[in-house]
Amino acid sequence: MSLKPRYAVFGNPIAHSKSPQIHLRFARQEGVFIEYERILAEPEQFAAAAARFFAEGGLGANVTVPFKTDAYDWVNEHSERARTAGAVNTLILLSDGRVRGDNTDGIGLVNDILRQGAAIKAKKVLLLGAGGAVRGVLQPLLAQMPAELVVANRTLSKAAALADAFGVQACALADLPHAHFDIVINGTSGGLGGEVPAINAAVFGACELAYDMVYGEAAAAFAAFARAGGARTVSDGLGMLVGQAAASYQLWRGFAPDIAAVIHDMREAHYA
Ligand code: ATR
Repeated sequence: MSLKPRYAVFGNPIAHSKSPQIHLRFARQEGVFIEYERILAEPEQFAAAAARFFAEGGLGANVTVPFKTDAYDWVNEHSERARTAGAVNTLILLSDGRVRGDNTDGIGLVNDILRQGAAIKAKKVLLLGAGGAVRGVLQPLLAQMPAELVVANRTLSKAAALADAFGVQACALADLPHAHFDIVINGTSGGLGGEVPAINAAVFGACELAYDMVYGEAAAAFAAFARAGGARTVSDGLGMLVGQAAASYQLWRGFAPDIAAVIHDMREAHYA
């Protein structure tokens, strides 16, 4: 068994995950050696894989697609924000051997938007998409007290369900009003296939920040679309990824990593 504190990320697929590169940079900042591995779990096998990891000495883990709700069902207790999100992206081994589930995705997003100088308080925010990724960030966004938060989705019923649960406004992508938004956040998964949400590009006119929750190539089409529509600043979600990881790391080890330094480093190294 390894002597280094052991962490991991569970997902399927998982080979592409940048979490090891990010967490090893955090450990370097803290001045410690850790082990951080990618664990590929088969569908229906998340619980068995997670139980094995903790039985073998694991101290904490991240959870990514498609296991965030499986993780929610598996843990012994939930943080408040995990409960609101209905999903768990962080597993923390407690001193009594039980495992606590938390969700740091929303903090990752909010901190990255604020870091880029865009206030959310009193601003008009448009969130595109109504899947698990969007559900997970709604409460932290609302906690910033935007003037307005509209969730627009291709399938209206899913946006409407979030509107009921969180008290936000819902709308179909096709029916987006010609209104001004200060911040537009893309939480749809279409970018992975090079697709952008079918909205009128006028939505980006005079928008302060167009933010994509995915990063790298998957964010390219949305960035070009938003820029052409007039968005003043465009950002991919690398900062959100690093930010959620930093919040997980702090939960495990009590050390708050320097997020900006790691984002910079990852970009320089082309995410390596
Ligand atoms: P995730 O966990 O990434 O949120 P998900 O729960 O499957 O994944 O949700 C995917 C989201 O992306 C949904 O809001 C989906 O819209 P529908 O609810 O209408 O399916 C949205 N999405 C995926 N591809 C899209 C596309 N090409 N255009 C617009 N929205 C898209």
